[in-house]
Amino acid sequence: MQTRLVAMEEGKEPPMATRTIQSKILPLKLLLFFLFFLGLGIALTIISMLMSRHYDYDNVIIPVTSSRVHPCFQEPISFQSWIKPPSTLRHYMNDSQLFWRASFDPQIKSFPFKRVPKVAFMFLTRGPLPMAPLWEKFFKGHEERYSIYIHALPTYVEDYSPSSAFYLRQIPSQVAEWGMMSMCDGERRLLANALLDISNEWFILLSEACIPLQSFPITYLYLSVSQVSYMGSYDDPGPFGRGRYDDNMAPLVNLTDWRKGSQWFEVDRKLAVDIVKDDTFYPKFEKFCRPACYVDEHYFQTMLSIRSPHLLANRSLTWVDWSRGGAHPATFGKADIKKGFFKNIIEDQNCTFHNQNSSACFLFARKFAPSALNTLLEHSLDFFGY
Ligand SMILES: *[C@@H]1O[C@H](CO)[C@@H](O)[C@H](O)[C@H]1NC(C)=O
Ligand SMILES: *[C@@H]1O[C@H](CO)[C@@H](O)[C@H](O)[C@H]1NC(C)=O
Ligand SMILES: *[C@@H]1O[C@H](CO)[C@@H](O)[C@H](O)[C@H]1NC(C)=O
Ligand SMILES: *[C@@H]1O[C@H](CO)[C@@H](O)[C@H](O)[C@H]1NC(C)=O
Ligand SMILES: *[C@@H]1O[C@H](CO)[C@@H](O)[C@H](O)[C@H]1NC(C)=O
Repeated sequence: MQTRLVAMEEGKEPPMATRTIQSKILPLKLLLFFLFFLGLGIALTIISMLMSRHYDYDNVIIPVTSSRVHPCFQEPISFQSWIKPPSTLRHYMNDSQLFWRASFDPQIKSFPFKRVPKVAFMFLTRGPLPMAPLWEKFFKGHEERYSIYIHALPTYVEDYSPSSAFYLRQIPSQVAEWGMMSMCDGERRLLANALLDISNEWFILLSEACIPLQSFPITYLYLSVSQVSYMGSYDDPGPFGRGRYDDNMAPLVNLTDWRKGSQWFEVDRKLAVDIVKDDTFYPKFEKFCRPACYVDEHYFQTMLSIRSPHLLANRSLTWVDWSRGGAHPATFGKADIKKGFFKNIIEDQNCTFHNQNSSACFLFARKFAPSALNTLLEHSLDFFGY
């Protein structure tokens, strides 16, 4: 015991002595070290200048080398750079790169900053949004709680004024054809771009013929208290449901797993990432669900019903009228908007909300023709409360 103590004491002494000596020598060593690298940096600069002069007469000055000599001048990484949304929606990523980037998701679920969750309104359209003035009214005053994304034909040039909520909100787009996989690609592209903003929590897909049925605060509340996502999804035994199933999809997707539902969905961040990152179901649907199998009515609906059935409400938030029959739902114009038209849609429905029977089932409705706009604008406070 005694000897060990001594040994420890002994062992302590010499290093302390050398440390004092070292600490005197250290600055000198550091200085030499620094001078060596400075010299090396200058030498490299000269060499590269000579080389570039030798090989490329136009580029005599190479500013890149200076960073080797002065690494201290680089901006330190700030936390803000991770959490603030991209300053512009323009980017040069292709789909593989964008989807890969968008699939990054924090693993720590409590945020080390005050995060105000936002609703991402994603418009899948060919070009103009005739209902934009109505949406502007709906959005006004709630700038902190929403973001807008527009997927249009790549050739479409937007012309919103800088004061518009839709100004510069068009994402890099490609042609999306009705009922084809390119339509789902467009939807995934919208989700991926919206996922780049860490504050987006709910993602709603809308068309140019959609209108909001409730005020923004009610819409926001409805989404924020929901524990499920609103994706229309059901098992349709008929020719337009199970009839579109292809046996080649088994065993990944069996006939009993096959779902149908409206393209116009609302999903939370988790499901948005699940859709963007999918490379399991995508190839099957791309290959075996082609018209008359309309992939935008089956792919996400079936995949999510298999993967996360407990996270789905199985109903859409977007009201639509199929009662007139045919391949397309009814479109409403100026003449259709009469007193009481919206009362039924907004108040007299049956669905479950929070495990309760509810009559408030829809937040959006389609399809509305541009001719309906002025009437809707005039009565929006009366009809919808905004
Ligand atoms: C995106 O670009 C990368 C690199 O050029 C390429 O490997 C990939 O195939 C591209 N993806 C698409 C969908 O074009
Ligand atoms: C489809 O059926 C096969 C065989 O019964 C089973 O192994 C597979 O897990 C099923 N697929 C799904 C998605 O349930
Ligand atoms: C939605 O459907 C799935 C089956 O596809 C089911 O497991 C789930 O409970 C349903 N959700 C609700 C809210 O009924
Ligand atoms: C909703 O349910 C009530 C009572 O069950 C019924 O009287 C009413 O017709 C239903 N409404 C719709 C739109 O199905
Ligand atoms: C909801 O309505 C159905 C009939 O439409 C009824 O059977 C059920 O008991 C109701 N549930 C609640 C919680 O009121």
